[in-house]
Amino acid sequence: MAAQVAETRKAKASFAGRQAHLRPEGAYEVMARSQELEAKGHDIVHLEVGEPDFNPPANASLAGIAAIASGQTRYVPPAGLTRLREVIADVAGRRRGISISPKQVLVSPGAKPAMLFPILALVEPGDEIIYPDPGFPTYESLLRMAGGIPKPVPLLESKSFSFDLDEFDRLVSDRTRMIILNSPSNPTGGVIPLEDLRHIADAARRYDSWIMSDEIYTQIVFDGREAPSIASLPGMAERTIIVDGFSKTYAMHGWRLGYGIMPEPLAERVRLFFTHAFGCTAQASQLAAIEALTGPQDYVTMMVTQYQKRREIIVDGLNKLPGVHCLKPQGAFYVFPNIRETGRTSQEIASLFLDNGVALLPGNAFGKYGEGYLRLTYANSIPNIQLALERMAKALKSIN
Ligand SMILES: Cc1ncc(COP(=O)(O)O)c(C=O)c1O
Repeated sequence: MAAQVAETRKAKASFAGRQAHLRPEGAYEVMARSQELEAKGHDIVHLEVGEPDFNPPANASLAGIAAIASGQTRYVPPAGLTRLREVIADVAGRRRGISISPKQVLVSPGAKPAMLFPILALVEPGDEIIYPDPGFPTYESLLRMAGGIPKPVPLLESKSFSFDLDEFDRLVSDRTRMIILNSPSNPTGGVIPLEDLRHIADAARRYDSWIMSDEIYTQIVFDGREAPSIASLPGMAERTIIVDGFSKTYAMHGWRLGYGIMPEPLAERVRLFFTHAFGCTAQASQLAAIEALTGPQDYVTMMVTQYQKRREIIVDGLNKLPGVHCLKPQGAFYVFPNIRETGRTSQEIASLFLDNGVALLPGNAFGKYGEGYLRLTYANSIPNIQLALERMAKALKSIN
């Protein structure tokens, strides 16, 4: 009896296996360490967290405030407000040149639930999932949570950080349940070109795999380019989950607003996960989102112009540092400089820079193929970016 009680206690004290794979996001860890240094009086420039430094468009914020003031703060349908789903279907469909029904759109509190629940609805333990490395760390955590087998594909600097298609071809098979894409990419800023998307789409059709296409940075692209969506290719919309949202395009990350677009039968199942996991997305946030999408879009143009200016400054500055070279990213608001010629690891250089007042992330926080790189966000002011560059130059001099 005593042994049985002890056994039951032990079982309760241990946690379920599916949580064991969860890792903290590197950005939050570095932010915590840099805040400790700040508490001791250090001055730190923060280039670690991928958070827009702009305020959301005023018309969207005012619509949200009006909603709160008038009591539009109630339970609403789990899939999202009908009007918002209609507007998203229209805007997202036109942008990608495809026809999207509002029934395919599910509105979620941030983009992350629009990744988690389709993965839980589709992936059985033992299914293989291909995803980019270096890549957004949430992909690996979520696919492992579902019991999926991770199959990371390197992004190659020599291909402007698109997939290594030879390695992709080696990994893809009829065991591949899902292929995750992210273009423009966090952490590299790379955009997957159309010919690579065609190659990946052919494989997805051949092996009957799903695609999860994280397009949250799709409107933050430079030099007049566009980031094509794999969902626009023939026969692909029916096997693709598009993930997008308001966190980056409209700097509404704190409003927690994202969405998934997927074939209707899948949306119907994922809606039930939403129902039982979080009920619905805040009504006021959704009303603000309708205004963001239907109001004037010059805000987005202004923001992209600002990011592009900062990109020039940070890329030029990084390329002047000894042992560092940095590609010009095509989208998002990150740079991913190569630091191999310094002879130090990513972690060593990231720690050196933090000790010298610049918080950024080691490339391997985004997967093993990120070793030899750093990730910096330029969602920060030009004076702060310039200060960070001066500090990094001084720090590198101190070790040479
Ligand atoms: C590639 C990528 N996807 C998704 C997200 C999550 O977005 P949200 O804040 O809307 O959940 C982020 C946030 O940094 C991201 O970088």
